Amino acid sequence: MAIIIKTPEQIEGIRKSSQLAAETLKYIEPFVKPGVKTIELDGLIEAFVLKNGATAATKGYRGFKHASCISPNDVVCHGVPNDYVVKDGDIINIDVTCILNGYFGDTCRMYLVGEVSEYAKKLVQTTKECLRLGIAECKPGNHLGNIGFAINEHAVKNGYSVVFEFCGHGVGIRFHEDPQVDHVAKKNSGAVLRPGMTFTIEPMINAGKARCKVDRKDGWTARTIDGKLSAQFEHTILITEDGCEALTDVYGDF
Ligand code: MF3
Ligand code: CO
Ligand code: CO
Repeated sequence: MAIIIKTPEQIEGIRKSSQLAAETLKYIEPFVKPGVKTIELDGLIEAFVLKNGATAATKGYRGFKHASCISPNDVVCHGVPNDYVVKDGDIINIDVTCILNGYFGDTCRMYLVGEVSEYAKKLVQTTKECLRLGIAECKPGNHLGNIGFAINEHAVKNGYSVVFEFCGHGVGIRFHEDPQVDHVAKKNSGAVLRPGMTFTIEPMINAGKARCKVDRKDGWTARTIDGKLSAQFEHTILITEDGCEALTDVYGDF
């Protein structure tokens, strides 16, 4: 499979879908409070996406049944919404991918619930910095591998490890396209970035060991092997003539 260079028309479609995914993460924020079940949050997310003329890409994707992935604390990614009750001190990732007019936009962020420990806050902050440093490598002519190099360097410097079992990916026309975006990579390795490429960067950073294990019952929920915390942020990125645009950054954070 080759990397798809998107046309201006496709880019407009991907931009709109990305914005809706990001608006969904904004919409759900006031509901991520102690006492709510993650399955209830998923229901609200689905209703919001549908109301805005889109569908959730995860629903029915390889047997996944929900509109979002909701991953608390030691869950690295692909958390299946269920009866888990959100509690004070939790750090929770919510990941939403919209399909709007046939175009895909994919984003996730962390939510800090009530009084969160300094230990957890620092992990979340460093993960955000990792994504920011990855985005800083996004410009035409640069190698894809420099994204993962920058992310891993920053995480390791802070005493954390980078998950290598799940990666970023091309996105836009389909849910998961080429290229695979590794969050640990060698400098100047991989494809050369070109204007019109759209892909995600979605580093998962662990407080302890990098390895994950997938829940045997639900077949999806991936947890850290040592039970320690994990954090993740994700943006859909467009490579432009002179750099990039984070299409899902409606907060203006990045
Ligand atoms: N949105 C996730 C990603 O960032 C993929 C979720 S696939 C699912 O690539 F099936 F787990 F929902
Ligand atoms: Co993704
Ligand atoms: Co995602």
